[in-house]
Amino acid sequence: MGKSMTELSGKRIVLGVTGGIAAYKSAELVRLLIKAGAEVHVVMTENATRFVTPLTFQALSGHPVWLDPWDDRRANSMSHIELSRSADALLVAPATANFLAKLAHGLADDLLSTLCLARDCPLLVAPAMNRQMWQNPATQRNIVRLQEDGLHILGPDDGVQACGEVGEGRMVEPETICEALISFMQPKVLAGKRVVMTAGPTYEPIDPVRGITNISSGKMGYALARACAHAGAAVELVSGSVEMDAPYGVVRVSVRTALEMHQAVMARIAQADIFIGVAAVADFRPRHAAENKLKKTQVASPVLELEQNPDILADVASLPAAPFCVGFAAESQDLETYAEDKRKRKRLPLVVGNLVQDGMGGDENTVTLFDARGAHPLPRASKQVLAAAIVHHLAEMLG
Ligand code: C5P
Repeated sequence: MGKSMTELSGKRIVLGVTGGIAAYKSAELVRLLIKAGAEVHVVMTENATRFVTPLTFQALSGHPVWLDPWDDRRANSMSHIELSRSADALLVAPATANFLAKLAHGLADDLLSTLCLARDCPLLVAPAMNRQMWQNPATQRNIVRLQEDGLHILGPDDGVQACGEVGEGRMVEPETICEALISFMQPKVLAGKRVVMTAGPTYEPIDPVRGITNISSGKMGYALARACAHAGAAVELVSGSVEMDAPYGVVRVSVRTALEMHQAVMARIAQADIFIGVAAVADFRPRHAAENKLKKTQVASPVLELEQNPDILADVASLPAAPFCVGFAAESQDLETYAEDKRKRKRLPLVVGNLVQDGMGGDENTVTLFDARGAHPLPRASKQVLAAAIVHHLAEMLG
């Protein structure tokens, strides 16, 4: 999924690299953090420099790499205090078993551990080690202690290890670490809220190989699911078939037809505080799906008998204890008239309208929000930026 360039802009991240083979992946992590807009300062332990040279991180981050507490770039030897005071977050990736043990006991015998002890910003760590080191009771004890201390532990993953063994202990992938950090830095305006959403197209079978569908990339819906999760909500995304992975932290329920989508939504809606219908649901489905492939020799001009699908959004909005409902209106003309009509007819507190020619399939869109107070046009932006703006508006309406 295309990430916005601004999600970490203005943020100063101190990245600690300790001595494990996963250190080579931290080079990619620096690149991703910078791509997301962050200013990155790298601190390496002495052992880390045996795996990757400081020059690599210096070139990627555009800043000198910090190596030891007696670094003479600061005449008064106060670099650890300065670095941690100006940071928005400290991230240690990879974090070895030894480094986690030091953190758990408050040891400060090198620059990075001193920085961690002297910090007044959040600390996230991505453990990376052999599976037996990870499973060792001492490591597990340290992890529990670190969680109690308020650290954020990312991973580790399961899988093949550098030593050839298979198990838990791999560092989570740089993309996931970056995404977790982005998520961590966003204001939690939907904390404690449960969101059920639909996204993507539905597919209505005619026979085993043919069907009726709508054109929908699912990009806006997925961006919104991601933004809701970033805002602290628990998100269940009922999705038609799309070419994207579920966003980090979002529970995806895959469906094919409108009826399956309807059922999956209704099964979850009682617990939801918010429902957002972004899916391009097919309005009609063939009355009978043929069991076998239709042959052109069978009928010269077949007639498809269609019947209406349920309107998922309207059904949710008319529940006795309906959650806060958000609808989408993609129109080819007269946006304001149609979107306002949809808002009133389906009794929705909020409708997000766009002209199909402005956004379909692409990474950008131009949308207008319609609520009881009127129309609120948003500047043209990436779907990710729009999603964050929609969540902001939604959170304000919820008070
Ligand atoms: O009526 P229209 O299809 O234009 O309304 C669009 C909104 O209603 C979208 O939010 C869409 O996800 C939702 N919808 C639905 N079930 C349908 C049709 C539309 O949830 N059968």
